[in-house]
Amino acid sequence: MNDIEHPVYEIDKRQVRRSFEQAVESYDQAAVLQKEVNDRLIERLDYIRMQPEVIIDIGTGTGFGLSALAGKYPESEIIGLDLSEGMLKKAHASISDKSSDVDASKIKMICADAEELPLKENSCDLIFSNLTLQWCNDLNNTFKEFSRVLKPGGLLLFTSFGPDTLIELRSSWSAVDDYQHVSGFIDMHHVGDALLNAGLADPVMDTENFTLTYPDAYKLMKDLKAVGARNAVYGRNHSLTGKQHLKAMIEEYEKYRCDGVLPATYEVVYGHAWAPDSGNQNESVNVPFNT
Ligand SMILES: C[S@@+](CC[C@H](N)C(=O)[O-])C[C@H]1O[C@@H](n2cnc3c(N)ncnc32)[C@H](O)[C@@H]1O
Repeated sequence: MNDIEHPVYEIDKRQVRRSFEQAVESYDQAAVLQKEVNDRLIERLDYIRMQPEVIIDIGTGTGFGLSALAGKYPESEIIGLDLSEGMLKKAHASISDKSSDVDASKIKMICADAEELPLKENSCDLIFSNLTLQWCNDLNNTFKEFSRVLKPGGLLLFTSFGPDTLIELRSSWSAVDDYQHVSGFIDMHHVGDALLNAGLADPVMDTENFTLTYPDAYKLMKDLKAVGARNAVYGRNHSLTGKQHLKAMIEEYEKYRCDGVLPATYEVVYGHAWAPDSGNQNESVNVPFNT
């Protein structure tokens, strides 16, 4: 189906919301990479001296970031923001759980789009976002929104996916048909440019590649669905993918088999930048980055 209103690579937010709503119950068990990257992003805060009053976790999902941030900054007011109401309910249930040592009264949930934050300007000290920005259509505007709500001297710390992510799957599909089966991911240099365009200062970017392995390509696709990572671009094939096409893609993917398993590459882009402060007082020390 052609969509005359939307470019083929544009992300259909209704589809994103639907996919994550359907993944609420399966997410925690399947999100091994997301949890690991969240932990690594949280660790980076050890190198930054700050006592944020207000923190927002954008694309909070089931709340991996929320509970880690609440543990690290027990005095802070924390907001979990997500496009999916189901994810927010799950996050709320997990932090309100009796066994959780998080003070749930300090955490609020907002159902909204990262590209249009329902927050006042100069209202947040720290914006944290793990593996969510790849679902935004316009990073320039998204970062302008972040810049608007950050207080002067506030910090944005995030991860997203880079262009090598799922390169094997993308290439296997491209041998079969011309549909866009895997979202396009933005290069870290362009992400850095978008930070500067938004007026954010001292951006620092780096990337880290992870390789996950699967017994077969079906299991990879099952896991992607379980974490809500379904194809949501307008240029996706809107009818059911035929069995023959799927079979052909699975066969193509077999060329990557090594030591009995199939690899899937994930290029994680890490970044941080500061809202300008006249005296730029941020007390960052050297964060050990990957090359
Ligand atoms: C891959 S999950 C990451 C969740 C969490 N940060 C973690 O580390 O587990 C992405 C989350 O972002 C949400 N999301 C996607 N696009 C969004 C948008 N434009 N605005 C707000 N949330 C969004 C999804 O609903 C989902 O919960």
